[in-house]
Order: sequence, then C-alpha cells, then structure tokens
Amino acid sequence: MAGWKARRQPFAFAALLPTLVVLSAAVDTLAPGDRLEDGSSLVSSDGSFKLGFFTPGKSNFRYLGISYNQTADQTVVWVSNRDTPLPDKTGVLSISTNGSLFLSDSKGIIYWSTSSTRLAGPVAKLLDDGNFVVAGTGEGGYAWQSFDHPTDSLLPGMKLWTDPRTGFARNATSWKSDDDPGTGDYTSFLDTNGDPQIFLLKGTKLVWRSGPWIGKGFSGIPEMWINVEFNSSFVSNADEAYYLFSRRSKSVLSRLVVQPKGVTEHRVWIESKGDWNVFWSGPRDRCDEFGYCGSFGVCDANETPLCSCLQGFEPNSPDNWKLRDGTDGCRRRTALDCQNGTDGFVLVANTNLPDTSMALVNENMGTEECWEACLRNCSCTAYAIAAIIDGGRSRCIQWSTALTDLRVYADGGQNLFVRLARADLALSSSKRKRRRIVTAVSAAAAVLVGILLAGLVARFIRQRRKSSNTVVLGNFPIVKSNAWKEEMSRSRELDLPLFELAAIAVATNHFSNDNLLGEGGFGPVYKGRLEGKQEVAVKRLAKSSSQGVEQFMNEVRLIAKLQHRNLVRLLGCCVDGEERMLVYEYMPNGSLDSFIFNKNKGALLDWATRWRIIMGVARGLLYLHQDSRLRIIHRDLKAGNVLLDDSMNPKISDFGMAHIIPGDEIEGKTRRVVGTYGYMSPEYAMDGTFSVKSDVFSFGVLVLEIISGRKNRGILHSDPNLNLLAYAWRLWEEGKGLELVDSSLGYPISMAEVLKGIEIALLCVQDLPEDRPEMAAVVLMLGGDRAPPPHPKQPEFVAARGRSEDSSSSKGPTCTVNDVTISAVHGR
Ligand SMILES: *[C@@H]1O[C@H](CO)[C@@H](O)[C@H](O)[C@H]1NC(C)=O
Ligand SMILES: *[C@@H]1O[C@H](CO)[C@@H](O)[C@H](O)[C@H]1NC(C)=O
Ligand SMILES: *[C@@H]1O[C@H](CO)[C@@H](O)[C@H](O)[C@H]1NC(C)=O
Ligand SMILES: *[C@@H]1O[C@H](CO)[C@@H](O)[C@H](O)[C@H]1NC(C)=O
Ligand SMILES: *[C@@H]1O[C@H](CO)[C@@H](O)[C@H](O)[C@H]1NC(C)=O
Ligand SMILES: *[C@@H]1O[C@H](CO)[C@@H](O)[C@H](O)[C@H]1NC(C)=O
Repeated sequence: MAGWKARRQPFAFAALLPTLVVLSAAVDTLAPGDRLEDGSSLVSSDGSFKLGFFTPGKSNFRYLGISYNQTADQTVVWVSNRDTPLPDKTGVLSISTNGSLFLSDSKGIIYWSTSSTRLAGPVAKLLDDGNFVVAGTGEGGYAWQSFDHPTDSLLPGMKLWTDPRTGFARNATSWKSDDDPGTGDYTSFLDTNGDPQIFLLKGTKLVWRSGPWIGKGFSGIPEMWINVEFNSSFVSNADEAYYLFSRRSKSVLSRLVVQPKGVTEHRVWIESKGDWNVFWSGPRDRCDEFGYCGSFGVCDANETPLCSCLQGFEPNSPDNWKLRDGTDGCRRRTALDCQNGTDGFVLVANTNLPDTSMALVNENMGTEECWEACLRNCSCTAYAIAAIIDGGRSRCIQWSTALTDLRVYADGGQNLFVRLARADLALSSSKRKRRRIVTAVSAAAAVLVGILLAGLVARFIRQRRKSSNTVVLGNFPIVKSNAWKEEMSRSRELDLPLFELAAIAVATNHFSNDNLLGEGGFGPVYKGRLEGKQEVAVKRLAKSSSQGVEQFMNEVRLIAKLQHRNLVRLLGCCVDGEERMLVYEYMPNGSLDSFIFNKNKGALLDWATRWRIIMGVARGLLYLHQDSRLRIIHRDLKAGNVLLDDSMNPKISDFGMAHIIPGDEIEGKTRRVVGTYGYMSPEYAMDGTFSVKSDVFSFGVLVLEIISGRKNRGILHSDPNLNLLAYAWRLWEEGKGLELVDSSLGYPISMAEVLKGIEIALLCVQDLPEDRPEMAAVVLMLGGDRAPPPHPKQPEFVAARGRSEDSSSSKGPTCTVNDVTISAVHGR
C-alpha cells in the first residue's frame, strides 16, 4: 500500500483484496444481479477507463469513481458519491431490474442511486470515452449517463450545458481539496445571458470568464485560437447552449477540470513525460481576474501598472489608481452627444471582449450595419464584430452598459469600438497607448478600419504570432517595406521635398495637442512652424491600414502634380519608420463647415464671401475634372474638406480618396464606396458607380449648405428638416427660395445670386447623373454667362426612398449622419 501513497499518486485504488468479487477485472458491463464490490472494477472495452472504488490522498473514505486506466497517477474524472463517502470498504454497486443504480454498504445503507427507467432489460456499461451509461437492450438511448452529471471534469464529448429557457445547467464543480472530492467552492458554468460565456464562479461570485465564442475558441482564451489538436465546438440556440471539445486522435488524453485552487484547466496527458500538461487555464494571470481594472479600465499584462483607463476616460478614484488598485474603474471625460450625432468610436485592438452577459447580439450583421446600429442607438457604448471566421458569419455585439473586464493581448484578440464624444477622439499622444489603442480619429475612420479588419481577419490570424515593429493597427503587418521604398523613390522623382521627422516634430511641438488642428480623413492634422517660419499643416497618417498607406501614396502622387489656387498645396512629405506625413500650406481659417454650421461664426461669412467660396470650389472642382493633366474625381467633397485661407479663399483638400480615371473614361465602379453620407449621389451610394457627376452632386449639396447654413443629414431621410435637398426643392418650387437663406446672414444679400445658386444646386442634385450639368457648365452658369438654366427635376430618389421600402436598398446606406466620412463595401 505504501507505493500507492507515493507523492505523485494522490489517489489510490484499492489493491485487489481477497473479497468475494462477482465480476472479473475485464468486464465493462453491470447487469441486474451483478455486484461490483470494493476491490473490483469495470474496465471499458479498449482499456481506457475504469470504474471502481478509491480513496483520495489522505482521506479515510471510499468513493466510487471513473479514472483513466492508462495513466499512472490514476486520475479520477468522475465521482458518484462525492458528498456521501463510504466509511469502509464494504461498498457495492448494483443495478436493479428497473434500471436504478445503487451504491450501498454491507448494512444496506444507500449512499448514491439513480432514478429508474422503463427501458427493457437495462444494463450499466462503461464506454470507451469514459461515459458510464444505463441502456436498454433495444434502441432508445441512455436512461442515465455519467456525462450528464459532471463532477469536476469534462472529458472529450462531454458538454458543459445550459438550458437557456429554464436556466438548468450541467456544471463542473471543483473538489473541496485534493483529498476530498466533495462539492467544492468553484463552479464552471455556461452563462447564456447576452453572448454566452463560460464563467468560473466562487459560490456566486464571478472570478473568471472565458469571453464569448469567436469561432475557433473563446475570446478570452488565446491558446484556443490557434490550436489544432482539439476540435472545440460551441452551440447556442433557443433550446440549449453547450461547449464541448473532442480529440483528433484517441491516443491524446485530455480533460477540462475545475481545480480546488480556483482555476479551470484544460489538461493534456503527455505520455513521454508521464504527466499532465496544462494547455490553457483561466484565470492565468491578474488581468484574467474578473473586473480587475473596473469599468472602462483596460488590463495589459505587459504593462506596469497593469490597469489603465480607456482613451477618453479617467480614473474614478485617482488615489486608488496610484496605489495600483484599479477596481474603481474609470469615468468618461466628456459626456456623449448622441443627439447631435457627433460621437465617434475609438478602436481598441487585440482585446478579450468585455463582459458580454448584458450585451446585445445580432447574428449576420455586418461591420457597417453594426457600426451604424451602435451609432444610432444612444444607449450603445461599444460594438464589436465577432465570429467572422466561423463560416463567414458576422455577428454584431453591442454593449449598452459600462464595459467591464476588458484586457488587451500583445497580439491577436478582437477589435472593440468604444463610443466617445468628439472631444475625446483625438489621437492619444502617449506612445504606450498608441501601440495598442489606436485611435480611429472619427467615426469615419473607425468604420473604415472596421471594414478593413473584417476583410483582413483571416490573414491577421495567420500572422498574429509575428510581432514586429512594422505592425500597425490591430497588429497585422501590412506595411511591405520594399514596396514602400519603391514608392518613395518614385516620389523623389516627383521633386517633392522630403521632410525629416525630427524637423516636423520640432515644428509641431512634438505633435502636441495644442497644435492639433483637427482630423482629416486618415489622421490628425497639426499646425506647425518650419524653421524658415513658414506655417504649415501636417497631416499625420493614422497608423491604420494598408488602405491608408495606399491612399497616402495616392494623395502624394496626385497633389504633387496639382497646382490650382482653389486646391490646397502640398509642400512635401515625411516618411520615417511607421510615420507617414503630408505637409501642406497652412490655412489659418480652418474649414468651411466650422463657419457655415455655426450661428456665431456663420455671421462672419457674408453673402459676397459665400458666393466667392461657391465660385472658388466650382473652379477647383473643374480643374480636377478637366483642366489638370489628370482626370480626377474627388469622391469626398464636403464642407469639411473646403479650407479657407486668410482671405477666405476656398481651397479643396483631402485627396486621399480621390480617384484618377484613366484615359477618356468618365465613369468608374468600385466595390468600396468611400465618401460622406449626405454628399453621396444616389448611384454612388447604391451601386458604387462614380463619375465626375457624383462630385457634381456633392457640389450641389455643398452649395445648398452654404446658402442655408444647414447640414444635409442624409439623402435617404424622409424628414424634410433633415433632408435639405427635398426641403430646398419644395421652397424653390413654391417660389419661396429666399426662405432657405441662412438667418444669421447679414445684409446685403444678392437675391439674384441666391436664387441662381439654389437653382444650379438643384440641377446638380438631380437623381440621374446624365441630368446633372458638368462642372464646366456650372462655372459658366454661376458666372452668369449663360442663358437661364433648365428647370431642375424634383429629386425623386430622395422622396421615394423616404416613403417606401425598396428591397434593393437593403445593402445601401441609410445613415443620417452628415459629418463623418464613411466607407462601405458593395457586392460582397
Ligand atoms: C489497464 O491499464 C493497464 C496498465 O496500463 C493495462 O496493463 C491493462 O491491460 C489495462 N486494462 C485493460 C483491461 O486493458
Ligand atoms: C426500482 O427498483 C428498486 C430496487 O428493486 C426499488 O427500490 C425502487 O423503488 C424501484 N423503483 C421504481 C420506480 O419502481
Ligand atoms: C450551475 O451553476 C449555476 C450558476 O451558479 C446555477 O444557477 C445552476 O443551478 C447550477 N446547476 C446545477 C445543476 O447545479
Ligand atoms: C470536429 O467537430 C465537428 C463538430 O462537432 C465535427 O463535425 C467534426 O467531425 C469534428 N472533427 C474531428 C476531426 O473530430
Ligand atoms: C448639441 O449641440 C448644441 C450646439 O452645439 C449644444 O448646445 C447642445 O448642448 C448639444 N446637445 C447635446 C445633447 O450635447
Ligand atoms: C438600443 O439598445 C438597447 C440596449 O441594448 C436595446 O434594448 C434597444 O432595443 C436598442 N434600440 C434599438 C432601436 O435598436
């Protein structure tokens, strides 16, 4: 017996004592009349598992359980009488003719039993997978099986199971200690609220959660994402939810076990070592402890201190945070402003998604729809797309509560988009934050990035182990340095000055927030002063995506060739490591939208100035469309992209999305729609067809906005207060065009110019591209050098969309947000 008590063998099966055994050792079945006495055991037919009596560790009691037959340590995976131990070795297992199993002792006291069955000829059998079942002679499944009654372990094929309707759950609960298989403190439980997750509970207290299922594994168990040895599956529907794993090879012994010390482990038997290895465990570090950094806090195991607040949040109790206690969590710096539609999202990459037990899940909702749903729902605090790798399904998870138990990983992990007020969206200057929490500078960029991520996830998963300095957003390496160098040598051929990073850092006061001018399409824009005292605007490309880099190059190449007084001038660029920057001439008066949509500043732009701006934008656009050597479609013309110099002359900016049309083609088609709702022409928004006429449409919207001082909230909006186009058309048709004029405008106002402007704008926003004039004609009409313009048609599209549901519009944007640049993918 001494040998059995060796330190490496905490559980000892009774040595075969000379007792009156009815069963021989090689039997796997117990029939009515058979007696399995202490000292004998059932062994499954292939010898994998055995069922018998044992005494764990230093215990004085006897238990009936199932253990591996092959492993030297006799690991017990199931116990029948965990809370009702036998005091001596007189225990007997038997099965009655009605199928009940009984564990009793010599005095006839019953320590454990199962209910009876109506199945004919019931026998109990230990199967090769470790399942002990009661089955009839005919068909009809099992009357009872040990797999339905886990103790502390899940074997391959065994389900951690919950009925979402009744809440009934088959949990795994730890032993009290290594010496006592009694029901212990820790329970592993599949919680089906929100997006289902496995919880590890201590009593009723949540100590660890697996995170939601993301296709290959759980969001909070990185080891599962790449594992190929285990075939995990997860099912969740109205009737049941369960997690189970299977082994690819029968020779691999593995089990999931809840340890008395409070950790869930997936263990794998290593034959050569003769011991168990831990494949994954939870919690495995402090960051895994539930809610370690409180609400809106982020835990990063590679940082000191572990906790930080999400961008846009500050500690609730700074003193406790200094003492490294983050459990109080964080609060928002700036209140959200959902009503005004100015909120955006910051991307937190590589996360274990926050607790999803209160989250809202929409199956088959794509990135764009998810973003839009969250943006529109004022109670939505964050969203994420999960399980896109699982058979192409895209699941939208939205949170409406505080975000708790959020951690980030060095690589891999999910992308979480957290809602922030506009003021908090600026790119964080802290190096540390930039590495992991990449600001998508506006709702715009967030969505763009989201879409890119969706497309790149597969690749990103494959490459996730590579962590290198070239890795940018979401940690997928996208910057191909050689291609980049080639591009740069080409840009040298363009004779474009290249600035040193150091020079730009000095010029912008190290990109200080005080120098932040705003956010362009692909990154923040800083004001700077070069050594020669020249003021410049530096656009720092958000370290985001391959698309961003491409667009950066696009912009460099385009703008270097463009010279027009109504286009913003590129002075040079800067490339250093991951940094890509564009240096522009500085526009002291900022962008047009900050004037026309602001009642106070709007008064500074009198009618004559507004008219000059309309003319200037028209000329700049004409240059792009016709007069430059290239034929360029801007694709994102809007008030925010029209900058004003010190004399209020307009200059079109942001060519990152511009598209060169080769040769004489005048139309193109794209799967990627980029642009801004409210300015996008119907054919572009719906089909991705763009042409110079889609810019004409945007120009028309811009003119109406300049005249009215109102934003066009969306081309698809039925509410006339929001749909500027329908509103303008109605007023104009009723002969009340002057009512459209911005009330903050002082006199004098040229009535003739106002009416001409409205009429031309309405011509530009007609539904059919062929009905819209070319910019050349627009410039002529504005200049008055032409016969009265033709009568514009009513923008039917606008009205019709508002009223009826069109099935073809289901893929189309229905957003009402005006001032964010969006990107949508068509034809997926
Ligand atoms: C149980 O395991 C032992 C040792 O691995 C082995 O010798 C024996 O054959 C197994 N029992 C059966 C019935 O296969
Ligand atoms: C099943 O058989 C056992 C033993 O014979 C008996 O104690 C028990 O009451 C029976 N159960 C039913 C439901 O008949
Ligand atoms: C499993 O655990 C959950 C959570 O503690 C509990 O609600 C449920 O009743 C448990 N199920 C069983 C069968 O004990
Ligand atoms: C993996 O699991 C799935 C679903 O449970 C099953 O269809 C498939 O056959 C399994 N593959 C292997 C190799 O076990
Ligand atoms: C919306 O914007 C207006 C003007 O900028 C501001 O006064 C108001 O407080 C904003 N609404 C909310 C809910 O913040
Ligand atoms: C907004 O979010 C809340 C909380 O998730 C949800 O209950 C509500 O149905 C949502 N509203 C809409 C219109 O989706």
